[in-house]
Amino acid sequence: MTTLAVRVGKLSLANPIIAASGTFGFGEPFSDLVDLAAPGGIIGKSIGLRARAGNSPPRTAETPCGMLNAIGLEGKGLDYFLEHVVGWLSKLKTVRIVSIFGDTPEEYDALAKKLQEVAPIEVLEVNLSCPNVKQGGLEFGHDPDLVLRITADCRRAFTRPLWVKLSPNVTSLAPFLRAAAQGGADAVTIANTYVGMAIDWRRRAPVLANNTGGLSGPAIKPLALAAVHRAAGETDLPIVASGGASSPEDVLELMVAGAAAVQIGTWNFFDPRAAAIAVQEIEKLLCQEKVADISDLVRSLKRNTPLPPEPA
Ligand SMILES: Cc1cc2nc3c(=O)[nH]c(=O)nc-3n(C[C@H](O)[C@H](O)[C@H](O)COP(=O)(O)O)c2cc1C
Repeated sequence: MTTLAVRVGKLSLANPIIAASGTFGFGEPFSDLVDLAAPGGIIGKSIGLRARAGNSPPRTAETPCGMLNAIGLEGKGLDYFLEHVVGWLSKLKTVRIVSIFGDTPEEYDALAKKLQEVAPIEVLEVNLSCPNVKQGGLEFGHDPDLVLRITADCRRAFTRPLWVKLSPNVTSLAPFLRAAAQGGADAVTIANTYVGMAIDWRRRAPVLANNTGGLSGPAIKPLALAAVHRAAGETDLPIVASGGASSPEDVLELMVAGAAAVQIGTWNFFDPRAAAIAVQEIEKLLCQEKVADISDLVRSLKRNTPLPPEPA
């Protein structure tokens, strides 16, 4: 027998598989198809203070081994969530993780304060890949000072586990990992999507109305492995991997690289049973390899060479 239970800081999960934000809802669309208790946790689509239409279509494009999305954080806002979604959360028998975004640091703070009062939420994940409206649209996740401020504000407001989801579109993760730790995060999610683009050369035009979008899916798994491996060398904070996991083996690779838990995103789009399959199959793989406890894999990578220093 193999133990699949893991810990992300003080939080226990029945297994390391988590449905990623924006790719699974809170499981409602799939409740007739899959066992929603199969993943160790489910993260809902990021919610903001107010309803938001998101970007104009086309908002997605298929790419070799992946997809681009520029949804633009469409959503019905906090009031709708409190009125219509919280009841559904109470029925879920897995760890419920709510993802938030804001247009300003004050909005993150307001969301964290409100959600502290909502019982069926075990974890708050702070999505920093949102344009900072006051400062010309550069994403919060690109400024370590703002990462520190938003993390610290959310930490004060929300007393249960707080995860900070970083952007991978930076030269060095190190200052952002330090900011998350200093702000009091319990874990970091590494990472959101990578900026990419699709072009229709005949029209001389970008395929996405937003010009660029976030690349996800199998195409980014090697990037995610490198980012998680780098983060594991830079921080003692638990790491939750997000990026490219599209098979049970991918999940185990990300854990060896340093992840305590692994989110599944785009894989849900090509098979909504992805999380359940991952849980079943990793158990078989670990039994074959005689690994009694999956936690023994976390940060178990034997590097071939020492980690070279990153720019400060
Ligand atoms: C259509 C779509 C919508 C997404 N929406 C969100 C979101 O609302 N908040 C967020 O933090 N990440 C969002 N993501 C990013 C995913 O949670 C995940 O971090 C990313 O897709 C990388 O993982 P993957 O390669 O397993 O898909 C979205 C991704 C996709 C494809």
